Amino acid sequence: MDHFLYRGGSLHAEDVALTDIAISVGTPFYCYSAATLTRHYNLFSEALSPLPHLVCFAIKSLSNIAVLKLLGDLGAGMDVVSIGEYMRAKAAGVPGERIVFSGVGKTRDEMRIALHGGIRQFNVESEPELRALSEVATSLGKTAPIAIRVNPDVDARTHAKIATGKSENKFGIPIARAPQVYAEAAKLPGIQVVGIDVHIGSQLTDLEPFEQAFQKVAELTMTLRAQGHTITRLDLGGGLGIPYTRSNDAPPLPIDYGAMIKRTLGHLGCEIEIEPGRLISGNSGILVSRVIYTKNGEGRDFLILDAAMNDLVRPSMYDAWHDIVPVIGPAPGVETQPYDVVGPVCETGDTFAKARHLPPLAEGDLVAFRSAGAYGAVMASEYNTRPLVPEVLVSQDHFAVIRARPSVDEILKRDSIPEWL
Ligand code: LLP
Repeated sequence: MDHFLYRGGSLHAEDVALTDIAISVGTPFYCYSAATLTRHYNLFSEALSPLPHLVCFAIKSLSNIAVLKLLGDLGAGMDVVSIGEYMRAKAAGVPGERIVFSGVGKTRDEMRIALHGGIRQFNVESEPELRALSEVATSLGKTAPIAIRVNPDVDARTHAKIATGKSENKFGIPIARAPQVYAEAAKLPGIQVVGIDVHIGSQLTDLEPFEQAFQKVAELTMTLRAQGHTITRLDLGGGLGIPYTRSNDAPPLPIDYGAMIKRTLGHLGCEIEIEPGRLISGNSGILVSRVIYTKNGEGRDFLILDAAMNDLVRPSMYDAWHDIVPVIGPAPGVETQPYDVVGPVCETGDTFAKARHLPPLAEGDLVAFRSAGAYGAVMASEYNTRPLVPEVLVSQDHFAVIRARPSVDEILKRDSIPEWL
């Protein structure tokens, strides 16, 4: 459930009409609902109770500092994959003890900054990384708490570009080799083993692959404990999918996911960490755009919007579906018509949807892309020198711009012409 609903025929974010935000901020813009973010975070936290747990929001899905502060104030931890994300979490007031650092390619500089600033744990993905971390921690006179990310060789049954748990993927170490790598970790100076980490992919719509992976983690926990390692935390990654369209079967709910975790891992007495991104942020955000032109093409009508693939890349990158709805709902009984919904960028890939059925729309009308809170603004670029879209946060009857639209001048100023040209 989200808080983007029609009132009197006009789409609102909580109690604010999107038409009002469009007048004040201009289009396109991303809009997030504080109540929806809060609700989704609480669903996870409740689903894991009474197990000791920490819900670490995957910042990569939506990294605006205001959103991180909102979640951090609720008690969320953060999952970061770069020092930039780490600094965002810190800027939002999240203490280091609630930040986990994931990713296959952490640099020594990143390790140094995180160790200085405080970190809950590094999720280590390879032996070379483990040795580098040991060196960096020792040189600083610090101890790095670690979990090792294991690759359970499980098929997540999701889009190939976002599946991470098969042996051919670049992530983690093969689970069969884990005892050997833990043995090495236990001997390295500056390293303290605290747990096991796993993340098998994103937008999973079935609990079974999770359960297979978690069962392997349960077995590994017993094996490692028998070998003398202290395993007190299990980081289960993120990946629970969301409904992108109302017509599809709904993916499992956090409560079912939590029950499955308790069933497979609850007896181990570990603190459970999870790293959800999309389920917290996805349906908490929309992208609002204005129709620039409608154009009659050969056997089809185009809806040309002021948003483009650089603002929301998921349709062109993953063939992803986002529901598109008019901000002012049609009068009852109005027939829909098929549109190819496109942006102004100069490539055919800049297509959001083909033959999408919408009520008749005209120049100046507003449309909203639903489920755009996750992997929307964060994946935007300035391709075609299009300024990054502003972000707006709504809470009840008020809203604030939480990232302003840069001017084209600001973009141009970042370039420089060398003296010798
Ligand atoms: N933890 C780790 C280690 C991850 O790599 C990811 C996502 C997550 C947690 C969060 O997964 P989530 O709960 O959001 O599914 N850009 C793609 C998604 C990439 C996901 C990458 N890793 C998309 O737009 O679908």
